[in-house]
Amino acid sequence: MEITCRSMQESDLPLMLAWRLNPKVGAGLTPGKQAPTWDEHRSWWRRREGRVDWIIEAETDDFGKRPVGSVNARLGGLEPEIGVFVGETTLWGRGVARAAIDQLCAWLAAQGHVAVVATIAKSNERSRRLLQGCGFARVQATAPDTIRVRRELRAGQAAANVPRHRGVLSRLLPRE
Ligand SMILES: CC(C)(COP(=O)(O)OP(=O)(O)OC[C@H]1O[C@@H](n2cnc3c(N)ncnc32)[C@H](O)[C@@H]1OP(=O)(O)O)[C@@H](O)C(=O)NCCC(=O)NCCS
Repeated sequence: MEITCRSMQESDLPLMLAWRLNPKVGAGLTPGKQAPTWDEHRSWWRRREGRVDWIIEAETDDFGKRPVGSVNARLGGLEPEIGVFVGETTLWGRGVARAAIDQLCAWLAAQGHVAVVATIAKSNERSRRLLQGCGFARVQATAPDTIRVRRELRAGQAAANVPRHRGVLSRLLPRE
């Protein structure tokens, strides 16, 4: 199974919402908050700026590519903040999120960013271990129930990763 990413399009909105409405996914993304309605979700898409949203695709010989999740980066500051979810929850634990984060980090490094950060709920053990495995280290507690983690992006890492994902990267982000 090969994992690649492409830019999210407006036509991906219904699938994104369906994934988010799964309590298993929603609990990790916005713990304690109500799931968004269609109108809220659509309005988020229309208002969003300074961020990139990619659809994660899994490719198998018997079907080709199918969307399985999403990864994003908010680019406002010097150090972009990333987020990820795998909507096809039966794929959890198979390295999908890790592959997507690696591709996003390679792209961010190629754009000149030197580090990325993420905020995770303390209760989200899966996400904590995922980011730890991706090379993120804890930097500070932002609130009683969240943890801030950070990963440095080395120029060498980008150079090593970019050729492998060149076909993907060249198709990414036409709209941001
Ligand atoms: C968190 C999430 C993105 C992980 O996706 P995933 O594709 O299962 O992650 P991966 O398979 O790439 O796993 C990478 C690492 O996560 C950890 N992990 C995987 N399965 C795990 C499990 N069952 N329990 C605890 N940690 C686990 C491991 O450290 C794993 O590395 P390893 O394979 O070397 O042990 C996914 O569970 C999800 O979408 N959760 C809901 C949304 C969410 O919490 N997003 C994160 C917000 S920052």
